[in-house]
Amino acid sequence: MEKTIKTIILAAGKGTRMKSETPKVLHKIFNKELLGYVLDAANKTGMTEENFVIVGHCAQEVEKYVQANYKNAKCKLQSPQLGTGHAAFQAYEDLKGFDGDVLILNGDIPLLTSETLLKFIDTHRKNNAALTVMSAVFENPSNYGRIVRDENDNLKAIVEEKDASEEQKKIKEINTGVYLLDWAKVHEAFLNMKADNAQHEYYLTDIVKWTINQGLKAQSYVMENNEESYGINSKKQLAEAAKILKDRVMDKLFAEGVTIVDPDTTYISPETEIDADVIIYPCTYIEGKNKIAKSCKIGPFARLRGDVELGEGVKIGNFVEIKKSKIKAHTNVCHLSYVGDSTLGSNVNIGAGTITANYNHITKEKFQTVIDDNASTGSNSVIVAPAHIGENASIGAGSVISKDVEANALGLTRAPLRIVKDWFSRMKK
Ligand code: UD1
Ligand code: CA
Repeated sequence: MEKTIKTIILAAGKGTRMKSETPKVLHKIFNKELLGYVLDAANKTGMTEENFVIVGHCAQEVEKYVQANYKNAKCKLQSPQLGTGHAAFQAYEDLKGFDGDVLILNGDIPLLTSETLLKFIDTHRKNNAALTVMSAVFENPSNYGRIVRDENDNLKAIVEEKDASEEQKKIKEINTGVYLLDWAKVHEAFLNMKADNAQHEYYLTDIVKWTINQGLKAQSYVMENNEESYGINSKKQLAEAAKILKDRVMDKLFAEGVTIVDPDTTYISPETEIDADVIIYPCTYIEGKNKIAKSCKIGPFARLRGDVELGEGVKIGNFVEIKKSKIKAHTNVCHLSYVGDSTLGSNVNIGAGTITANYNHITKEKFQTVIDDNASTGSNSVIVAPAHIGENASIGAGSVISKDVEANALGLTRAPLRIVKDWFSRMKK
């Protein structure tokens, strides 16, 4: 039987360079937390049965996020923070007697994919290694720990930049901070750590030497695409990672037959599924999880905020915002509208400037709008949810609809029109 995996994610550090009150790992790309990307990558391998997130700085906030979103993750508090080795050690008690592999990841590497993790795990197991570290080759390796190899090219140690000799600083193979450990063989390394280094920290990297000294097999796995190892330490790096993620999404969508008129100004989250023959016009921003069926047209200047499902041939036009809504085939929301918490049937026409007023600011409650097939709303109408507009119903332009409108009916609220004759000359006098 294949061994199971438990994952430790290090996320206790402060992230000083972010200059933010938000903990580093809760910074977002496409409205998803950095830590979420890492947990998802681990879970998507289909092999990790439990995740331990090591929290410290802003522990409560991070823990709240993890508990709300990941049932198979548990937070362990590291206080004070005495280094990466000390951080991983916080899961030690929970791992007592575990005889599978332990995967260790940093919480700030959102670009790492489950595909890379699977190759990494596979190499570890095929080679019967006790420890495998994921490495990457960088032209400019500064600040990273360097992978030191012996004369036979075998892994010897990881040396931090601050502890490295001039010669070692020239090494371009670096430690990405991703490890896989045969826990039964390597766990004892955590009982033998010392903080005798330049930073007076317990270095996780010291487990490499320990493993080799025990006569166990330790190896490094060089990742194919070093981009995946990027750690986020600053706002600039956050933006760079977002761009890489975005390009990845574009490439995938292009290959699947989606037309993106201007990839430079279009943002589409990785969790958005889009069928072939959809056209996305410039300056469109799509975040969260969405499903877009074939032949839809979206944008320019449209925003989908997540949990949006569009049926075939739906048109979403300029300055339209859609959130948590299901829209059936061939419905048009072409201009200046907000549709939130709504279910729209097919062939509905949403007039310019239609708003589904879904939020009560005082009670903080949100309400649903349902609009059935073939109904239409006139320009500038407000539908105060909860509301149900029946099949074939029409809403007159400028109306405020605060009740249900039955099928085939017209809903209209409008002050009577007054025409004052000769207004121009009267004003001039
Ligand atoms: C670490 C590695 C280095 C590697 C680099 C990759 C060590 C000693 N060095 O360096 O070889 O090239 O990662 O990015 O491991 N953390 C805690 N508790 C702590 C300290 C850190 O949870 O007490 C967490 C941080 O939040 C972060 C991760 O561990 O997610 C890495 O910490 P960081 O300080 O960035 O490590 P580096 O010094 O960059
Ligand atoms: Ca550090």
